[in-house]
Amino acid sequence: MAPGTADVESLRRRLDAVGQGHLLNFHDQLPADRRAALLDQVAGLEIESLAELVERYVKNKPAFSLPAGVQPADYYPFDHTSGRRPWDRDGYRAVGRDLLAAGKVAAFVVAGGQGSRLGYEGPKGCYPAGAVSGRPLFGMFADQVLATGRRHGRPIPWYIMTSPLNHEATIEFFRENGFFGLNEADVMFFPQGVMPSLDIESGKVLMSSPHEIATNPDGHGGSIRAIVGSGALADMKRRGIEHLSYFQVDNPTVKALDPVFLGLHAKAPDSSGQMSSKMVAKAYPEEKVGVFCSIGGRTQVVEYSDLPMELQRERLADGSLRFIAGSIAIHVISVGFIEKLGTDPSFSLPYHRAEKKIPCIDPRTGAPITPERNNGVKLERFVFDALSLCGSGDGRGSIVYETDRVEEFAPIKNAQGADSPLTSRELQTERAARWLERAGVKIPRGPDGKPDCVLEIRATTALDAQDLSGHPIPEIRAGASVVM
Ligand code: UD1
Repeated sequence: MAPGTADVESLRRRLDAVGQGHLLNFHDQLPADRRAALLDQVAGLEIESLAELVERYVKNKPAFSLPAGVQPADYYPFDHTSGRRPWDRDGYRAVGRDLLAAGKVAAFVVAGGQGSRLGYEGPKGCYPAGAVSGRPLFGMFADQVLATGRRHGRPIPWYIMTSPLNHEATIEFFRENGFFGLNEADVMFFPQGVMPSLDIESGKVLMSSPHEIATNPDGHGGSIRAIVGSGALADMKRRGIEHLSYFQVDNPTVKALDPVFLGLHAKAPDSSGQMSSKMVAKAYPEEKVGVFCSIGGRTQVVEYSDLPMELQRERLADGSLRFIAGSIAIHVISVGFIEKLGTDPSFSLPYHRAEKKIPCIDPRTGAPITPERNNGVKLERFVFDALSLCGSGDGRGSIVYETDRVEEFAPIKNAQGADSPLTSRELQTERAARWLERAGVKIPRGPDGKPDCVLEIRATTALDAQDLSGHPIPEIRAGASVVM
C-alpha cells in the first residue's frame, strides 16, 4: 500500500536531515503509481546510515593499509605428490563423492553483476560462450549440474543469485530454454540487494529518472544476507544441503561441483569447513587477480591494487613467485557458516568503492545527464572478505587448493584482450585438446603449439578427461570445429 501524506512528510524530514531531500523533488508532480514506486524505493533505503556512508566513502576515500606480517597463504598444491605438501587426492575425492551422493551439496552461481565491461546487454549468463556451439554460460553450467547429478545418482539443486536489475530476464531465459533439461523444481533464483549510487562530488544519491533512484547491485558479498533473507537458506536446510559450491557466472570451464575440492573443504585437518577457496598460480607478477595471503594466521584475499608491487614481484629461491596464489573466485561455503553470519545482526562486510559513469538526471531540472567521465560512486561488498571470519580458535581455518589454469579458468570479462571471448575459446579448446590427447587422439597443432582447430566438449559428454575413455571420438582435422 502506498504511504499516506503523513508518511511522505516523515520521509521528507528524514531525507532532509541527511542532505538527501532532493529524492522527493519531483514527487508531487508524479502520477499516483510512480509516486508509490518512488516512495517504496526511498522507504527501502537505510536513510540514517547514508550520511556516514557519504562521509566515509565519497568525501574520503578509505585507504587500505597492509597489516604488518602479511605472509603468502599456504595451499594444497595441484600436484598432490609434491614433496612440499603431499596429500591424498583420491581420499578427498571419495569424501566429496559421498557428499554429492548423499545430497548434501548444491551449486551456487553469483549472476547479479552488470557485465558492463563485456558490453553485453542482458544477464551475463545468457552470453553465448561455448567455443563451437555458442551455448550460453547458464547452459554450460546446467550441463555440469545435470551430469554431476547423474553420476552421483541424485539431482543436484542449483541456486542462482540474480539482482533486481536482471532477475525477471534471467528466469525468462531459463523458461525459454526449458531449464536446459534440469528439473525446474531444483533451480532456485533469488535477487541480491542493491545500494544507491552516489554522486562523486556531493555524495547525493543519484536518480535515474524523476521517479527512480539509481542503484547498483550490492556486490557478491551481498549473497550472504540475500541467501538468508530470500528464503534460500530455509530451502537449503529443508533439502539437507550442507555445502554450497560457489562460482562466478563468467567462467565456462569452472568445475561447478568438484569432488576433490568438496572433500578437502569438509575433511582436511586444517579446514574449519566454513569457507574454502581455489587458486591458480599467478601467470606473471602484475596479473590483476586478488592474492591469497595469511594475516595474523587467517586467510585473506588482498586485491592486486592493495598488494605492493615489490611483494608481488618477490621470488623464492626456485624462481617462483612468493605471493603466487591468485584468486579465481571459486569457493565452497558451508550452509552453517552462512546461517551463522547472515542471521547475526552485528555481521557486516566492508564496502569497497568503485568510481563509475552513471547515467542520471539533474535533480533540480530533471534533465537527463549522460556522463563522459566518472560521476558516481558504487559501493559493493565482496564475499571473500568473509574468509577472515573463518575459524573458531582451534587452529583450523580457511584452506586454499591449487587448480590448473587450463583445466578451469577461462573467464569472459572483457570484449577484447585478456579474459575475452577469444581467450576463453582458446582455453576451452586447449583443455579439450589435452583431454582428447590423453585418450590417444591426434590433435593438429600449429608451429606455436596451439591446437589448429576449435574444440568443445560438453559436460554431458565428459566431466573430466577420464570420462572420454571408451567414448566414440571423431577424427580431428586441421581447421575443424568440433563439438562433442
Ligand atoms: C573477480 C574478483 C577477483 C578475481 C577474479 C577472478 C572481485 C571483486 N574480484 O574479479 O579477485 O581474481 O574475479 O575471475 O570479485 N556479481 C554479483 N553481484 C554483484 C557484483 C558481482 O553477482 O553485485 C558477480 C558477477 O555476476 C560475476 C562475479 O560476481 O559473476 C564477479 O564480478 P566482477 O565484479 O566482474 O569481478 P571481477 O573483476 O571479474
